[in-house]
Order: sequence, then structure tokens, then C-alpha cells
Amino acid sequence: MNKKPYLETMPDQNGYFGRFGGAYIPPQLEKPFAEITKAYNKLSKSHNYISELRSIRKHYQGRPTPVYYCKNLSEFVGGGQIYLKREDLNHTGAHKLNHCMAEGLLAKYLGKKKLIAETGAGQHGVALATAAAYFGLECEIHMGEVDIKKEYPNVVRMQILGAKVVPATHGLKTLKEAVDSAFEAYLKDTDTQMFAIGSVVGPHPFPKMVRDFQSIVGFEAKEQFKEMTGNLPDVVAACVGGGSNAMGIFSGFIDDEVKLYGVEPMGKGDKIGEHSASLTYGKEGVMHGFNSIMLTDENGEPAPVHSIGSGIDYPSIGPEHAYLSSIGRTNIGLCNDDEAVDAFYKLSQHEGIIPALESAHAVAFAMKYAQEHPNESILVNLSGRGDKDIDFIVENYPIPKKSN
Ligand SMILES: Cc1ncc(COP(=O)(O)O)c(C=O)c1O
Repeated sequence: MNKKPYLETMPDQNGYFGRFGGAYIPPQLEKPFAEITKAYNKLSKSHNYISELRSIRKHYQGRPTPVYYCKNLSEFVGGGQIYLKREDLNHTGAHKLNHCMAEGLLAKYLGKKKLIAETGAGQHGVALATAAAYFGLECEIHMGEVDIKKEYPNVVRMQILGAKVVPATHGLKTLKEAVDSAFEAYLKDTDTQMFAIGSVVGPHPFPKMVRDFQSIVGFEAKEQFKEMTGNLPDVVAACVGGGSNAMGIFSGFIDDEVKLYGVEPMGKGDKIGEHSASLTYGKEGVMHGFNSIMLTDENGEPAPVHSIGSGIDYPSIGPEHAYLSSIGRTNIGLCNDDEAVDAFYKLSQHEGIIPALESAHAVAFAMKYAQEHPNESILVNLSGRGDKDIDFIVENYPIPKKSN
């Protein structure tokens, strides 16, 4: 008998991937989350919903995004062959729009008036503000004060698109605090607002829903790579914050003999507060409504985290990543701030593609891996473009001379 495809087997009905996931929510959220789960289960099989989403992806987002062979960078590195899945070319410049348009469509079917969410680098916020404009919904985005300064171009984009940007002013004032703040605002009115979380995190059904919406990246990439090369890649790699772009591309290859690497940010070092490598250094715990692996301080509270990529400095990781890593299906790659900046400039100067700092982590990993494995091919999910990072980078890291 044929084995069921992995994606049909996980998560279980209660949103568990093995022991990870679930929905650890206050009683007042049980009803609205059950409503979202029921609607998603119905709509994901509805002809009208699927064909509307397909049409949006093609005519509005510009999908499929291409797979591109980095000839120059591969030759420069002098090893294996590096390919990119160009999610930076998705409308709004990152993979986030894949789940935002689907979540917006879901909100519309549910008769909601407003989309509400957190954002780190601002890419999810921009994508959700775009979806809200498209579907005629209001939009409120919570963002840490520190990220507001760092990713200012995205703040202005959200405002131009009609969204209200609410600063999160407590704690470290970055991504975790933005999630806290967005949850709090959502709790005040779950009838007219829809929470549209920005990654494969949060309580069930979000990790499953966001993965399913992002799986288009992997399905396209598999077909495109096979058409280009006649084979599958040896390795697929993606940076991991919450893990949506990684789960998106992994989804296409999960039942194949392809090595999967989620690249975690090592930031400035291996001490608590210097990195956000949740799987590498974390332990099991519950945060933001789901059980996963997380970084904690000495009191068991979410630890302070750091990464140069504002979208990946999160002290936990999507439960499916915790599960896949625990069963040995996925591997962890590491990349620190300096390596990410180096890859940011190398990809820009050798290929004419300026990556988001988050995505640069996966590129840096691919460059190292290619050097060490000259006979292998590596497909990287280039999750976003780097326009939002330009001001910050040039102020802090002088533009290097191109090396040959
Ligand atoms: C370009 C880009 N890549 C990656 C991420 C990390 O999110 P995830 O791990 O959910 O893909 C972000 C988050 O803002 C992002 O903007």
C-alpha cells in the first residue's frame, strides 16, 4: 500500500506535530479559533476558494516566482551549485504575501472587518496591509519600537497601504513583544477582527494553515528544479524565524530524499541574548499559545534574543520544525550576523540580487555548504529582497570592494 503524503498526516486534529503544537489559549479564544479552524477545513476543499486563490496568485502576486541558477556565485565559491527560489520577486518583495492573501480571503469569507497581526522586519505587515487593501478590510499591525526604527521604509509602506502601525513599547521592543501586543489587541474584539499571524507559529490552526498556504513555494520549486536539471536538488535550505518560508519550501521535498536545512541566526555569539537559535539552544516550553522548543532565561521566561535580521529574532520556532528536527528529518544550519552581511554583499555584487538580511542567512549557509560539498546542488529559498535593509546596512557595514 502507498504511504500517505507527509502533509496529509501532520498535524493531528488538535494541531499536534508529535508532542509539539496544540492550542494553549485563554477560554475566550476557544470559540473564535474553533471558528477559524472550521472555516479553513471547509474552504481548503472548496472549489470557489481554491480557484479565487489561484487566480490571485497568478494575476496579482505574479506567481510562479522563478528558480534561478547562481552561476557567478557558484563559480566564486568554487564548489557545489547554488540555486535560488526567487520569493523576493513575489509581489511586496517576500514570501509573506502567500499566506496573507489566503488569510485575507479567509477573513472575507468569515465576514470579518479587520486584519490584525504582528510584524518583525515589516514584511508580514506590508503583506497583510496589501491583502487588507485588496479585500477592502481594515488593518492594524503591531511592531516593536526598535524594529520600527530599523525597518522604517516598511513602516511607511504599511501606512501608505492604509494600515495603522501600533508600536510595542515593552521589553526588548522587537518581534516577541509585537506578538504579545497584537494578541492583546485581538482579545479585545474577536468578532470583527481576524488575527493573521505571520509565520507557522501560534495556536492551532495557524501553524498548519500558514504551512499549507506557503507550500506553493515548495511545489513550484520542485517542478521548476526538475525541469531545469532533470533531478531534485541534494539540499534545500531556508532561514528560520518562526519558520514559514522554510516550511513552505520544505513542503515540496519532504517525502523525497532531499536534505533539508533550516538556518538559525547565531547573531553575535552563543550566550543568551546574543542569538536567536531556538532549536540549537532551546528547550521545550509553551509560548504564544503553542508547545515547541524555545529559548528561556534563568526564570523560565522567554529569553532576550538578537539577530541582525529583524524577522528572525524570535525566541521560539514553529512546532512543525521542532517535530521534524526531533525525528531527524530536518537539519540545523547556523549563520551569524557577520556571515549574513557578507552574503548580503556577495549575492548583490556577484548576481545583482540584493537579499533581505533574513534570507542572507540561508545564502551564507549555502555558500559554506557548497564549498564543503563540491558535487552537490543547493536550492535556497530567497525569502525576500533587501530594499528594507539598505539604510541600516550602509550605515553600519561599509560597502566592500567586490572580490573576484
Ligand atoms: C524576508 C524574510 N524572510 C524570512 C522571515 C522569517 O520568517 P519565517 O521564518 O516565518 O519565514 C521574515 C520575517 O519577517 C522575512 O521578512
